[in-house]
Amino acid sequence: MYHQISRLLRAACAYNGADPARNQHLIKVHNYARMIADGEHLDAHTQFVLEAAAVLHDIGIHEAERIHHSSAGQYQQMEGPAVARKILADFPFEQEDIDRICWLIAHHHVYKPIDGIDHQILLEADFLVNAFEEPYTEPQIQQFYETVAATKTGKELLRTHYSS
Ligand SMILES: [Fe+2]
Repeated sequence: MYHQISRLLRAACAYNGADPARNQHLIKVHNYARMIADGEHLDAHTQFVLEAAAVLHDIGIHEAERIHHSSAGQYQQMEGPAVARKILADFPFEQEDIDRICWLIAHHHVYKPIDGIDHQILLEADFLVNAFEEPYTEPQIQQFYETVAATKTGKELLRTHYSS
């Protein structure tokens, strides 16, 4: 299965093109998602779907900019699933898994309600990377730590990275 994720990482980077910031973002978010999933002992299938969603979570950015002239989260979430379905058409994924990946893409900025461990981990992985890239302030990180972060591994990573 890891071979498919590795291939998907390359496909997402190829779709983004010469955009190192976005490509490095998706590679980092995927890696954090995998680290948290490993730490939380997810079953292999849930982890596989989560990893695919982490790779593709921001794939709607280019279409959001083209159609809405904005890379705001709400537009990325709106445009991401259609792009993801096109990329995933070249992969032997079950329809049900593609639907879940697209749901996760469409909800990766939704903090309430959190629907499932895959959603929870995707939010934590994206936040761990955005906290550095944006960057977020100490109070913003603290707030996420106290009100959104929930997994033991995600919270540990937040503490070790940002001393929350
Ligand atoms: Fe992201």
